[in-house]
Amino acid sequence: MFEVLQPAPPDPILGLTELFQRDRHPDKINLTTGVYKDESGNTPILNCVKQAERQLLEDEATKSYLGIAGLERLANLTREMVLGAGHEILDQDRVCGVQTPGGTGALRVAADFVATRFPNHSIWCSQPTWANHPNVFRAAGLNVENYPYLDAAGTGLDFAALRTQFTQIPEGDVLCLHACCHNPTGVDLQNDQWREIGEIIQERALIPLVDFAYQGFGDGLDEDATGVRELLRHVPEAMICTSFSKNFGLYSERVGALTVLAATQDAAGCVLSHLKSCVRSNYSNPPKHGAAIVTTVLEDATLRGVWEQELAGMRQRISDMRGQFVAGMQQQAPQHDLSFITNQRGMFSFSGLSPVQVDALRNEWSIYLVSSGRINVAGMTPQNMARLCEAVASVL
Ligand SMILES: Cc1ncc(COP(=O)(O)O)c(C=O)c1O
Repeated sequence: MFEVLQPAPPDPILGLTELFQRDRHPDKINLTTGVYKDESGNTPILNCVKQAERQLLEDEATKSYLGIAGLERLANLTREMVLGAGHEILDQDRVCGVQTPGGTGALRVAADFVATRFPNHSIWCSQPTWANHPNVFRAAGLNVENYPYLDAAGTGLDFAALRTQFTQIPEGDVLCLHACCHNPTGVDLQNDQWREIGEIIQERALIPLVDFAYQGFGDGLDEDATGVRELLRHVPEAMICTSFSKNFGLYSERVGALTVLAATQDAAGCVLSHLKSCVRSNYSNPPKHGAAIVTTVLEDATLRGVWEQELAGMRQRISDMRGQFVAGMQQQAPQHDLSFITNQRGMFSFSGLSPVQVDALRNEWSIYLVSSGRINVAGMTPQNMARLCEAVASVL
């Protein structure tokens, strides 16, 4: 059977990483991948994580299976992080959740749930969106549609176009929204826009699926959630997919959670039973180690304080790099206004560079970006900034 297969297409971003690794230029710069890097270009293990791991090594008594829904404490802590302590929904007891293998696992469980329990409903993604969204949703059997997102320049939001599209989406369809730090553009919705979307969703009986992969990477843990919290005041039902890969630097441990808001307590209990049935037939139950790390940190006031500081450090470094890049470009190419980069949030920015300019950066300067012009801002360092700005100015 296997003889007849043609090779599957390689992942475009990982392919670029391989090219980068083979490049022998001593000052090469990699702005492609989706992981945080510190000033030395490393993706560090956070101190709070190391401390939690030491505790776990001492205290852990068994490696037996977790339940299908994973660590219940993690699911509860996630909903508090998303909603914020004291949100009125927490008292209403109409939220359920499961721990998942990463944010991708949460997206897949949500997609399986919708595709199998509510067939014939499409899911709508921003154009552009994280490249894996359509893959995950289609693999679950969902039809994927797009809604407009960017303005004509490709660096800011076209909210009017988005709103017009939302008012035409058929009842019961699912809207995939990025909570903050939109990947790949860095262009986020403002609070009043979240409220407006909430009203449209309620009016048209749509279901929001909020991808929350970067809480704490934009403006702060609570600040990044204000839009979602506002949205949830207006909608009776919602699904929220959390990833702890970025804000805990736990990429390879696969920690995430799916939180579902239902209209009533009974409905939430019923939804949980369906989520568990989706999990059981997929990966049976989630991995424990990463979830135990996050739970240990979030439940210990001292470790939580360390984590919040380390997270603030990552956030600040990204913000500094945005500022330094814009200032550097102002010097190198004052006729081009790149100030929109400081309005964008999170690890990524849409630079507005064309595929031809991206090719020139790679071929002439050994600077690697994905062809859409998306930049991983965390790949910038004070050391590579001058060369980067000179290169970008030369291709503009
Ligand atoms: C928007 C978005 N959603 C989900 C994910 C998946 O996160 P995880 O690695 O936890 O599966 C990513 C990772 O890059 C992402 O950018």
